[in-house]
Amino acid sequence: MEFFLQIPLLIRNFIIYSLEMANIIVVFPNKRIVETVLCFSIFLFCYLPTAFCSGFRQKLYLPVPGPESYAFDSAGRGPYASLADGRVLRYLGPAVGFVEYGYTKADRPRRFCDGTNRTDISQICGRPTGLGFYYKTGELFLGDADLGLVVIPSGGGPGIQLASSAEGVRFGFPDGLEVDQATGIVYFTDASSRYNLSQINNIVSNRDATGRLLKYDPRTKNVTVLLRGLSGAAGVAISEDGSYLLVTQFVIGQVSKYWLKGPLANTAEVLVNMTGMPDKIKRNTKGEYWIAVTVTSKNSTQLQGQRIDGDGNSLETLTFSPDFDSSLITEVQEYKGALYLASLYVGYVGVYR
Ligand SMILES: *[C@@H]1O[C@H](CO)[C@@H](O)[C@H](O)[C@H]1NC(C)=O
Ligand SMILES: *[C@@H]1O[C@H](CO)[C@@H](O)[C@H](O)[C@H]1NC(C)=O
Ligand SMILES: *[C@@H]1O[C@H](CO)[C@@H](O)[C@H](O)[C@H]1NC(C)=O
Ligand SMILES: *[C@@H]1O[C@H](CO)[C@@H](O)[C@H](O)[C@H]1NC(C)=O
Repeated sequence: MEFFLQIPLLIRNFIIYSLEMANIIVVFPNKRIVETVLCFSIFLFCYLPTAFCSGFRQKLYLPVPGPESYAFDSAGRGPYASLADGRVLRYLGPAVGFVEYGYTKADRPRRFCDGTNRTDISQICGRPTGLGFYYKTGELFLGDADLGLVVIPSGGGPGIQLASSAEGVRFGFPDGLEVDQATGIVYFTDASSRYNLSQINNIVSNRDATGRLLKYDPRTKNVTVLLRGLSGAAGVAISEDGSYLLVTQFVIGQVSKYWLKGPLANTAEVLVNMTGMPDKIKRNTKGEYWIAVTVTSKNSTQLQGQRIDGDGNSLETLTFSPDFDSSLITEVQEYKGALYLASLYVGYVGVYR
């Protein structure tokens, strides 16, 4: 039964493979060619599950660098990527590539901003970070390095600022974001109240502890602080049943669980101590979580995806470097059998299946 349910996905993958065969061969001239041809044959003749062909597969090149985070809409289109020049681009397949969907800063001077990779101009161009759709309305909620919390209305275009501070303290570095699809409530993190995105290294070197976990309620338009004193609060994910949030802190390498419901509601506990710097955390359709982790040692940097369950048990660790060539990984998102890899410092969307 499960096999038959997979057939539409397999057909889609088959089409993507067919269209991009030429491309893949160019990108991976020698070491991948045998594997690629093998995978292609398997799809062609056997329709075997994608698991047989796992590995770093593709780079979807972007016209602007710095994809920080991804989203997919309710119709399955995407990825939508938040980029260094202030825009959100969406991928429309190999024939079309990436096209503009929207931007956070409404008065952004397009001719100056489009295509730029400068990190010091977010006050002029905007700089979207974590993003997520509320499927019921089609609204796209985003963190923005300068504006705080922003929403792009259904259909795209310019953003509308929703909040730039909580309890009188301005957001310094809005980072991860998750929309609760049951309630429309938006959960997001501010990595630091003191430092902004272009000062990310200061957060680490000074072991900053001014990050917060926040909640935006669209009915009251109010932002509430759920946790304060966090060290590099980067990612947030809500559980499948909406009973808790998982939040990462990259400076101290921790994942915490914040209870929303039940006897422990409004309290938090440390779920996992990890080696390395955890960034975004994203739930998959099985209710497990992928965490993007940068592990730096004296002479190497490993970019990993670590899959855990809601109790903090480690299920899988994948290493994407050196194929995914960056000094940092900000997100690993599982969508329809593929993993989408993000980083502030690459010019493409990394795809691993
Ligand atoms: C921006 O792009 C230029 C030219 O491609 C490159 O030399 C520079 O390192 C990039 N800067 C950043 C911050 O990515
Ligand atoms: C980040 O903060 C520093 C120090 O306050 C400031 O000089 C700089 O303009 C800010 N950068 C951005 C992109 O907002
Ligand atoms: C917003 O939150 C503050 C403090 O959490 C509270 O005092 C205020 O009543 C709230 N406003 C609305 C409209 O809910
Ligand atoms: C994580 O480390 C802290 C001390 O650094 C310790 O108190 C805590 O019990 C640890 N938690 C887990 C789940 O390993």
